[in-house]
This record gives sequence, structure tokens and C-alpha cells, in this order.
Amino acid sequence: MSGSVHRRTGRLQSGGDRRIIRGEVSSLSNQVLIFDTTLRDGEQSPGVRLAMSEKLEVGHALVDIGVDIIEAGFPISSPGDFESVNTLARELKGVTICGLTRARAKDIDVAAEALEPAERRRIHTGLGVSDNHLQHKLRMTRDQALEAGVAAVKHARQYTDDIEYFMEDSGRADRDYVYRVVENIIAAGATTINVPDTTGYTIPMEYFDMIRGIIEHVPNSDKAVFSCHCHNDLGMATANTLAGVQAGARQVEVTVNGIGERAGNTSLEEVVVALKIRQDRFGLDTSVDTKKLLHLSKMVSRLTGMIVQRNKAVVGANAYAHSSGIHQDGVLKERSTYEIIDPTLVGAEKSEIILTARSGRHGLKHRLTELGFSFTEDRFERIYEAFLRVADTKSEVDEEDLRELVR
Ligand code: KIV
Ligand code: ZN
Repeated sequence: MSGSVHRRTGRLQSGGDRRIIRGEVSSLSNQVLIFDTTLRDGEQSPGVRLAMSEKLEVGHALVDIGVDIIEAGFPISSPGDFESVNTLARELKGVTICGLTRARAKDIDVAAEALEPAERRRIHTGLGVSDNHLQHKLRMTRDQALEAGVAAVKHARQYTDDIEYFMEDSGRADRDYVYRVVENIIAAGATTINVPDTTGYTIPMEYFDMIRGIIEHVPNSDKAVFSCHCHNDLGMATANTLAGVQAGARQVEVTVNGIGERAGNTSLEEVVVALKIRQDRFGLDTSVDTKKLLHLSKMVSRLTGMIVQRNKAVVGANAYAHSSGIHQDGVLKERSTYEIIDPTLVGAEKSEIILTARSGRHGLKHRLTELGFSFTEDRFERIYEAFLRVADTKSEVDEEDLRELVR
């Protein structure tokens, strides 16, 4: 089944949804925009600092894989960040470059200057909306914060008509206040509304409900694209993001390998591959070339020094590896018995059969055949018994062990 999610009912429909993007009304029927923030929110991971040349390497890879928007940094935060945004804006073509700002005129002026050379530029400004942030961090009333947000959007509009507004900590905010902010911010000229679950607090049904609530209750909601920005504190960033998309959001904010503050952000590869594998459910596309995902994941891991856990969905070293006899027997007969993702979809060579004490005859025979050996049934039985003895002493029986066994 293909089609878009109806803006008010959430049901899949075959026609297009009319939305505003970069100041023009365009049909985003089946397209989810990929907003990559690896170089901004991702780089906020404790212990990560990328050099300019490394940011350029990642930036080129992001363009190559086909993301729509790259958040390159927070220009006013330091001269280094200004330079990064400015360099990426100059060097990267065919993509929108975005700079983050607080809702302050000076921040916006500096971001606009950094973004000046970009083919397409976006200013991402905003302010907290939860009472927690308003009281403890911003020390503002709701009305004061809304006024500052509207003024920031109007100020930013003099530089570009592609304005995104983030409502920090939306996940814990009062819903009626959020609706009021969205309505006024769109009226002021924002074209994308970011609904961040900054603290990773929400659960999928709740996040769905928030996006759906905004779309249904805000009278001018058809004039903006809604964006999911989720953090992973409760391990639900990807699930929340996908729930937001089901509710009608058409932009997702993601990082490669899910890196970011604390437990990280929604991971690019998980969302893109989930939308692809569950096309039947979402009926949506992205412009990402999935075959380059593994390469990108390895690059970001190498440059940031952040190791990808072996069992990480989609790009982990074990994501296409099978070690138990029952599973090996199944995948060797028919891959789809235990694999929903064809490893070549993300650029991995093939599934792997890992030999352990839980492996069976089918797996062992397969690996020996791959190494060019063939045996009579009798001889194979003896090798299998020897294999089990070795396997009980180690976590994995590797190629060297197999050759030794045969000898
Ligand atoms: O998590 C968050 O709220 C953010 C905003 C600054 C967009 O990263
Ligand atoms: Zn964030």
C-alpha cells in the first residue's frame, strides 16, 4: 500500500498532502525529509570534537547519501562553530544548510552571516515551551517566551524564508500552550515547526498524540511542515519519531548512529530503514540511498571515536550475524526466516554464520564448504564432534580454528 497520511484523520490516502516547504507550497505526499544533526546535536555527545576537515568529510558523505537538510552547527556558540557552518555552507552543494540559534537577534544575525554562502540556507531558532524550562532555565512567563519567539522568527525572515522553529521540551509542555505557540509562530513566518522531546520523556502514543493534536487543533497548521526531534533517554527515540511520522510529521531530525547528548538522538539509519522495510505500514519514502548507510556509520564511528554497539539495529556488527543452530539452519534454507533486512540494503556484503557452541551441523557444513572443504558423512560427523569440544572452550570458532580442526 502506498500513499500519504491524511492530515486530520491520519489514515493513509493516495493523494498528496499540501504543505509549505522553503516558502513554497509543495506536495509532500509520500516524502519524509531527512534533517541530519550529526554535526550539531550529534557533536554535543560528551567527549566528541570533530576537526574542520572531519566535519567536511561527514558533510560530503551526508550529501552523497541524500539527506535533505544538514544542521551544521550553532554559529554564535564559538568561532570554531561559526567557521564550520560557514565552510560547510560554502562547500556543500545540493542540500539545505541549517544553523541553530537561540531566539535572540544577535544569534540570528551571526547565523545568517555564517550561512551566507549556502545554496539553500535555513535558520533554526526557538525557545523552551515547558513550564519547567520557562521557570527554571529561561525565567520567563509563557507570554514573554511567545513574544520573544515571534520576534525571533520575524527577525530571521529578513535573511531567508526557510525558518524552522524549535519548541524545546515540547514533550513535557502544556498542550494548549504548545498550540498557541505553533499558531503564532507560523503566523510570524516559520515554515517548519520542530517538536522536540528534548529529555526523551515521551512514549510513542503520547508523541503521536502531540503531533496529531497540533495538526488538528492549530488552524494554520497546513502552512508548515512538522518535525520530529527525539532523544533516547528511555530508548524510545526511533519509536517516537516513527509515531510522529504516522501522526503526520514530514521531517525527522536524526544523527548517524544515534549519537548525541546523554543517550543520544534518533538514529538516521533506523528511521530510514524502518520506513523502507515497513513501507506497507507507512507508505512513505526518503531520499536516502540506503546502500551507503553502513559506510557512513563506520565513518562517523571512526571520526567521533564512538563505538557502535555490536547489537545496534541496522548497522551493528551482529545485525546480520546468526549463531544459534536453529537460526542458522533457517537462514541457510531461506534468508527471510530470521532476517527482515537484506544486508545488501545497507551496504553489508552478506549475512554471517558465526560458529559457536550453539551452532549446528548445517552452519558448520556451510562454513567448511565456504572454505573449500567437502567430506564424507562419516568424516564430517567426527569433525562436528571435535568442533563441539573446541566451541565449548571459546566464544567463537573462527576460520583458523576450522582449518586446524580439519587438519
Ligand atoms: O533537543 C532539543 O530540544 C534540541 C533543540 C535545540 C532543537 O536539540
Ligand atoms: Zn536535541
